[in-house]
Amino acid sequence: MTDIPLTPRPTGEQPTSPPPGAVPVTVRRGLGDDAAQGNFWQQIGGRPTFEKLVRRFYDGVRTDDVLWPMYPEADLEGAIQRLTGFLEQYWGGPTTYSQERGHPRLRMRHMPFRVTPEARDRWLQHMRVAVDELELAPLDDAMLWGYLDRAAQAMVNTFDR
Ligand code: HEM
Repeated sequence: MTDIPLTPRPTGEQPTSPPPGAVPVTVRRGLGDDAAQGNFWQQIGGRPTFEKLVRRFYDGVRTDDVLWPMYPEADLEGAIQRLTGFLEQYWGGPTTYSQERGHPRLRMRHMPFRVTPEARDRWLQHMRVAVDELELAPLDDAMLWGYLDRAAQAMVNTFDR
């Protein structure tokens, strides 16, 4: 496995024909790691895409009477950076989030907040608007959305209203 090139060759070094007996394969080593096609973070545009996503998400959160009271109004920029950094790291970008915040432990970090089914639905509504504005390719959209949806379900910690 160690001699499989996991990053694309520089332009001009592409082999003109596959080696004898070569079988086309897609090398995937799991999310957050480089694959032959580059990782998902790179694939959808890197930092600018993730920052655009999170800023648009927070534009919605700021208008939300259930969600906004939970967020630190005086540190909105900090909240933007934390969520952006976490999502970038999850999808294979820089690991700045963990360097600054340690292990994500997201469920635990959400325990101080009342994450009800209603809060989850609103969180997802604002995120849906933000994902739509990225205008990703359908498969990329589905990949990102599938994760956000599952993660949001997992964050619910209060079932009374
Ligand atoms: C389901 C509804 C959710 C609610 C109501 C909610 C609410 C919150 C609130 C109030 C904060 C504190 C803001 C801050 O100071 O950073 C926070 C932080 C955060 N949330 Fe959520 N959240 C939800 C779902 C999610 C999901 C699905 C993810 C991940 C995909 C996520 C990732 C984060 C991260 C990374 C932080 C910063 C943690 C830290 O380092 O302190 N949240 N969330």
